[in-house]
This record gives sequence, structure tokens and C-alpha cells, in this order.
Amino acid sequence: MHARAFAPASVGNIGVGFDVLGHVIDGPRDIAHVRRISAPDVHIESIGGAVEGADRLPLHAPDNTAGRALQSLRAALSLPFGFALTLEKGIPLGSGLGGSAASCVAALVAANALLDAPLSREALYPFALDGESVASGARHGDNVAPMLLGGVTLSTADRLIALDVPDWLFAVVVHPDQVLETRRSRAVLEDPYALHDVVTHSTHLALFLTGLQRGDRELIRAGLHDVLVEPRRAPLIPGFAAVKAAALANGALGASISGGGPSVFAWFDSREAAERAAPAMRAGFTDAGIEAQAYVSPV
Ligand code: HSE
Repeated sequence: MHARAFAPASVGNIGVGFDVLGHVIDGPRDIAHVRRISAPDVHIESIGGAVEGADRLPLHAPDNTAGRALQSLRAALSLPFGFALTLEKGIPLGSGLGGSAASCVAALVAANALLDAPLSREALYPFALDGESVASGARHGDNVAPMLLGGVTLSTADRLIALDVPDWLFAVVVHPDQVLETRRSRAVLEDPYALHDVVTHSTHLALFLTGLQRGDRELIRAGLHDVLVEPRRAPLIPGFAAVKAAALANGALGASISGGGPSVFAWFDSREAAERAAPAMRAGFTDAGIEAQAYVSPV
């Protein structure tokens, strides 16, 4: 028995929802091929794909996000059989586009299809969190949750909720040809935050979620300002300020770092506005001598 599944790239955090908000994009994707095997274990047979460094990812299941997720699924269900896994990486490593999450979600969705009684997408969530934690050292669902449910999600330690959002929202995501490891971009967040920054943050998050729920552009615009994480991570991303400025100058509702970076995203209120802004945002990196790729996607 064999199954194949893909998981798309994602924008973790969406600026104001550190570790809890995220959305998928039309863009690169990871593909998993899974076979049921009689050995009660998880074997990663190969990792390939067009992505630089894919061949250096660990094949030892407990050290691999997808391997760990399948081990966790097997253990929870006491499965008498195992899985053999092949991964095709399409999402660049260390890009801030949820590549580690995509491998574990694609592997879980494919393995789930091989179960005698497949689980719901929601029921796969804890196993995806187990896998994701291998990459970042933390159990956060902002990438795996939208990959499981599609669209925009709110995710907590034990809950994932698909959010209704206006159909006119479009994102531009620009990926520079640079690597920023999630562990490094999380390390800069360790120092405590002042209470007034936390209050400002809560205000922005509340405005943003209310704007999404009401389909109100101005509330989304007022809310999409990250005062907590972006100021500490931006210095790790050469070109960030220029890319964000280009987005805002071209009518973005807001812009920030995608996941742990170095990719940058911006939200727009139409596909036309997003398509107009994408080349200018890309130029923010390329003018600094950094190769970059831009994706335009519905949110
Ligand atoms: N929410 C995570 C972070 C996403 O920003 O560190 C990275 O995978």
C-alpha cells in the first residue's frame, strides 16, 4: 500500500500572531511518498528534490520532522505495522516558509490514508506538533495547522481553528536566497518584553482579528504591526527594511517577516495590488545583491 501527499508553503505568525496564526500560500510545496511496511518502525528511504541541502537532511527518523511525526502517530495508535517514507523537498530550507512543517504534514496525510481507519485532519495535529518540534525546539502550530486545514488558522497547544477571512485578501511572499535557521531566529526573542509593548501587541492582535472577522480593511491595516518579534529579528535579515518599505509604498495593508524569516510577506486587498507590488518588494532584496523569488497568492 502506497500513498502520496503534498503540503504547501506557509506564512507563520502573520506578523501579530507569533506561534499561533498562519496561512498557506500557492507556491513551493513538499511531497511525501509513504508505504506501509510490515516492520513496526519508520524508515526514511530517501530525501530529494530541487532544494539546496535536501540531501543533507537527517534520514534517522527521530531526528527528522516527518520521521518523528510518523513515529508519534504509530506510537499513539499502537500500529502493528510501520511506514517507509520518501520526501521530495520543494520548500527551501531555513526560508521561513514552513519547510520542516510541510514535510511532516505531507508525511502524516499520506500515512493517514494508509490506516485502516484514517483520522480527521484535526486528529493529526498533535503528531504534526511532535514533528515540528524537532526543527525549532518548540511545539508551535502556526505552520502545521494551516497546512492541515488550508487557509488561515489559529492554533494553540491543543486546538486548531480555521478562520473565515475575506476573499479579497492576497499575499506577496518574497523569499531571498539566504538561510536563517529557526532556532537562531527564536534565540533573539529570549529576553523579557516590557508590559507596554505587550499591551500594544494585544491591541494590534485584537484589531487584526476583528478586521478579519468583519472584513474591514482599515482594522486589518491598523492591526498588522508587529512590535514584539519583528524588531528583534529584522536585523538578521539584510534587505528587510527595503522590502517592507516597498510593500507599504505599494498599498500593502501590512508587511512583516514570514515565520522565522528571512522571507517577507505583505497583505493586499486585491490580486491586482499584490501583483503590482511584488516586483518592487523583490527589488528590495535584489537591489542589495540578494537573489529573491516572489510569490503572489490568495490568503
Ligand atoms: N512561529 C515560528 C517562529 C515559525 O516564528 O519562530 C518558525 O517556524
